[in-house]
Amino acid sequence: MRQFFVLLIFLTLITFTKSFPSSTFRRDSLSGYTQCEGTFPNEITTVSYEPNPAIAGENVTVTIAGMNTVTVQEGATLNATVLYQGKQAFVHNMDFCKVWVEVNGDKCPVSPGYFEYITIMPMESHPDDPKNTTISYDYIFQIYNPGDPKTELTCLKGKFDVSYP
Ligand SMILES: *[C@@H]1O[C@H](CO)[C@@H](O)[C@H](O)[C@H]1NC(C)=O
Ligand SMILES: *[C@@H]1O[C@H](CO)[C@@H](O)[C@H](O)[C@H]1NC(C)=O
Ligand SMILES: *[C@@H]1O[C@H](CO)[C@@H](O)[C@H](O)[C@H]1NC(C)=O
Repeated sequence: MRQFFVLLIFLTLITFTKSFPSSTFRRDSLSGYTQCEGTFPNEITTVSYEPNPAIAGENVTVTIAGMNTVTVQEGATLNATVLYQGKQAFVHNMDFCKVWVEVNGDKCPVSPGYFEYITIMPMESHPDDPKNTTISYDYIFQIYNPGDPKTELTCLKGKFDVSYP
């Protein structure tokens, strides 16, 4: 009887583990984003945005988290390159320390370690925007330390969906 219970617990554990493979968590936590080819010292392991799709003319709340192995210096930039149907649609460069670090009560330089930043961004709208449709853009996010040459710290790519009311 005791052996039966031990076996039961064992089987339950196997079933439980199998229904939640670790890759599921990884994929979900990056919202479909992937690391760019190459190796980068500060890896983002969590990305999400709310609402998803973002809505043109409204704010979007973006969360990123990950692990720095290199100090993020004052003057670091986050460069977002946006492609639509394979062509560069626009580039959105920002001061990483101001837009991401300081709004979360931290300050550059940011020492190596775990980080989590939440920032609110306006989704601009223009009179010539499409109407009543959702567009899926391809985004490439790169974070650079200042200097000559700049050091690429992070590179992540994936879809960003914007709904045009
Ligand atoms: C977006 O957020 C900013 C500041 O957080 C706020 O002042 C503004 O009213 C918001 N805009 C919209 C459209 O909700
Ligand atoms: C990233 O953005 C900064 C600030 O606009 C710019 O100076 C820099 O050249 C950009 N870097 C790349 C590689 O595009
Ligand atoms: C918006 O698009 C949907 C589906 O594409 C369509 O059914 C609907 O009538 C459209 N609404 C307006 C206001 O154009």
